Amino acid sequence: MLGRLNHVALAVPDLAAAVAAYRNTLGAEVTAPQALREHGVTVVFVNVGNTKVELLEPLGEGSPIAAFLEKNPSGGMHHLCYEVDDILAARDQLKAAGARVLGDGNPKIGAHGKPVLFLHPKDFFGTLIELEQS
Ligand code: CO
Repeated sequence: MLGRLNHVALAVPDLAAAVAAYRNTLGAEVTAPQALREHGVTVVFVNVGNTKVELLEPLGEGSPIAAFLEKNPSGGMHHLCYEVDDILAARDQLKAAGARVLGDGNPKIGAHGKPVLFLHPKDFFGTLIELEQS
């Protein structure tokens, strides 16, 4: 079911500071910020060749990463995103196996314009998993 690692996501308290660190200190290529209101985050992607790093900052009230940043005020690893060929088939297979899909269980459009779903971290050893249709 799992394809390649699309990205590793880090929640950060200050996106501009994180972009400056990745761009200037680490010398990486960083995309322009993208506000994803439906997901309650502003994102950039850092291109590291074999995969990407997604930097996430809360956007608006009730952001799904607000509680994470309260627990991890300097930021931290938030989720891993794996590609799947068929996101609905993957969802149905995972649900049949007892894994919990977050939200209403229907894919939302993610930062790359493709459908995404999130899987409960307690079902995957404490790590939130995002699935993205490849
Ligand atoms: Co992501």
